[in-house]
Amino acid sequence: METVAVKASKAYQVEIENGALPTLGTRVASLLPRARQAMLVSDSTVAALYGETAERALREAGLRVHRFTFPSGEASKTPETLCTLWNALAEAGLSRTDCIVALGGGVVGDLSGFAAATYLRGIACYQVPTTLLAMVDSSVGGKTAVDLPAGKNLCGTFSQPVGVLCDPLVLKTLPFRIYADGCAEVIKYGYIGDPTLLQMLETSFIEAPEKVIARCVANKRDVVEADEHDNGARQLLNLGHTGGHAIERLSDFSISHGEAVAIGMLLAAKGAVAKGLCTPDVPTHMEKMLQRYSLPIRCPYGADAMAEAALADKKRRGGEITLVLPKKLGESVLVPMPVTALADFFAAGGAKA
Ligand SMILES: NC(=O)c1ccc[n+]([C@@H]2O[C@H](COP(=O)([O-])OP(=O)(O)OC[C@H]3O[C@@H](n4cnc5c(N)ncnc54)[C@H](O)[C@@H]3O)[C@@H](O)[C@H]2O)c1
Ligand SMILES: [Zn+2]
Repeated sequence: METVAVKASKAYQVEIENGALPTLGTRVASLLPRARQAMLVSDSTVAALYGETAERALREAGLRVHRFTFPSGEASKTPETLCTLWNALAEAGLSRTDCIVALGGGVVGDLSGFAAATYLRGIACYQVPTTLLAMVDSSVGGKTAVDLPAGKNLCGTFSQPVGVLCDPLVLKTLPFRIYADGCAEVIKYGYIGDPTLLQMLETSFIEAPEKVIARCVANKRDVVEADEHDNGARQLLNLGHTGGHAIERLSDFSISHGEAVAIGMLLAAKGAVAKGLCTPDVPTHMEKMLQRYSLPIRCPYGADAMAEAALADKKRRGGEITLVLPKKLGESVLVPMPVTALADFFAAGGAKA
């Protein structure tokens, strides 16, 4: 088993172990000895695959288990689903000492975390991420949210989980494209600040992912501990995301998040080289890396459209935008840039003029 200890406003452990799902109950019960009931939250896909195993494990540890299942997909990450979940918690009679167990990808995790942070002004949330993205990114760090019609993640809180359990065996049922999406975030950590991770990624980790997942979680932990509430250093986690969000929007979300981030990282690296801010080996290395993990590398949109879409994003501050740019292999930095220079930067990074 790999364990990563997180010391944010609340301290907790992220445990990563093949085949750990059936031991979920004893882990939750030992963390929360006063809990009598658990609300097991999942989406329909994950509930069908792993709901029974998780429910049995919780029941055998002495908890009364209620289930809340909603249709899979980002379209469910809404205030409406959140409200239905609040009502389910109240109808089941969950008390302050009970807990939510979030079994699923980032959608389940974000929604469950928000519900747990707000129901009765806060009950415990235990995260059991089942996608690679959720294991290495969304389940750790305490950002919770739902989407509004005006944009993604516009309503949420910072609220840390009480614990996280990753069973990499569940990744075997992930559709390949969703697995590849998670790989983009894994690769991202390497270029942000972990040259050793880049070396580990030279060979595929699909057969034995525990060490790579643990390394990514430790990277996320370090950034979160330095800047839990996202006022500075945490922005480093956005490598590839300024361009990536623009590409997702322009494609009307037909290009997935991970694919868009992959293209966005390469744009950032090439743009940084063109501006003399990065060593030229980085984009060459990155191109090979992304292709090894079946991720796209070409930007299908023009630089002006990209800049316009990127600036519609909520992360814009005044007349400046902060970009995350690679500096050398395994190191990225925050670089403020006037918004008027963004189209030029994307063009230098390889977006069509
Ligand atoms: N809180 C954060 O810090 C943070 C960080 C990054 C992303 N996010 C959020 O995470 C969400 C994306 O997460 P995601 O990519 O996990 O999406 P997701 O939760 O929608 O899962 C993707 C798909 O995979 C299916 N699935 C999940 N686990 C499976 C398994 N083991 N086998 C088969 N199918 C499985 C799901 O049913 C879904 O259809 C977004 O809403 C994003 O905003 C949050
Ligand atoms: Zn991302």
